[in-house]
Amino acid sequence: MTDRTTISLAADEDGLGRAADLLRAGGLVAFPTETVYGLGADAANDRAVAAIYAAKGRPSFNPLIVHLAEIEDAQALVTWSDAAEAAARAYWPGPLTLVLPLRPGARVSRLVTAGLDTLAVRVPEAPVARALLRRVGRGVAAPSANRSGRISPTRAAHVAADMTGRLDAVLDGGACRVGLESTILGLSGPPTLLRPGAISREALARTLGAPVARRRDTEAVSAPGQTPSHYAPRARVRINATEWEPGEARLGFGPVDCDLNLSQDEDLTEAAANLFEYLHRLDASGAEVIAVSPVPHLDLGVAINDRLSRAAAER
Ligand code: TXA
Ligand code: MG
Repeated sequence: MTDRTTISLAADEDGLGRAADLLRAGGLVAFPTETVYGLGADAANDRAVAAIYAAKGRPSFNPLIVHLAEIEDAQALVTWSDAAEAAARAYWPGPLTLVLPLRPGARVSRLVTAGLDTLAVRVPEAPVARALLRRVGRGVAAPSANRSGRISPTRAAHVAADMTGRLDAVLDGGACRVGLESTILGLSGPPTLLRPGAISREALARTLGAPVARRRDTEAVSAPGQTPSHYAPRARVRINATEWEPGEARLGFGPVDCDLNLSQDEDLTEAAANLFEYLHRLDASGAEVIAVSPVPHLDLGVAINDRLSRAAAER
């Protein structure tokens, strides 16, 4: 996942068309928004979304924002509300992300939500981003297009310097207007500012005609994907299983006899793409315990083990 040929595309008809084709085919494309450059992938494609985490070298599966061309496209993925309508009408397209309940049956990879039942959606304003999203015609999941632990890119050259060889293309739309990640407004419960950004808490409160809570300090340090209980299957999870006990649901990795195999070929990207889906399936089988083969603790395996140990944590 870190040996791709990265091409640079101009933000003209030809470049936009090629960028859209790459995204539709499951590729990784960095594109400019008004906030920062995003590292985009088809939000419905598990493998493509898993590749985002591999390219960023992200140590855990933080949930991702899905970018859409129109308000209506967002409404198809989440349960809409009056507050969502007010915020979207006031600030979309623009640097605001809304976190709303995931609509049941929405075609979004479980890796995008990191197993949460909420989804972050955003209609960006940058003309290049909108033109690209219209051409793709589906939701594009995108974190900032930087390697984990580095600063967010606001020019194509930043992306190229940090990420060349890790993605398929960089669409060059010049410098980002805002240069700071979007404001995130949580609307799955009482309105809460989850991340400050260009649109202020006060402005949002005026728009909603209701108070917007500050995120508590204790919560601010950890992304929602970081709480131990955040992915909790009904079954108990036993990790690093080298032998199966009778009655266990068996989730394998590599050449082992099991019920479902994260990746027969020991491909960590494939394993990441399968992880949440397979845990859900084995949980639905009714087994008391899901036993999981050891997964190597390197590259994406670190993220996979992070999720697995959370699933296995005492609760
Ligand atoms: O401006 C931006 O938002 C940029 C551009 C590319 O759109 N994207 C961005 O993505 O900053 P990222 O992955 O670096 O940050 C996304 C933030 C994370 O802090 C994540 O925890 C939060 O959004 N987030 C995503 N889904 C969430 C959810 N369902 N509930 C709460 N927070 C969520
Ligand atoms: Mg980021």
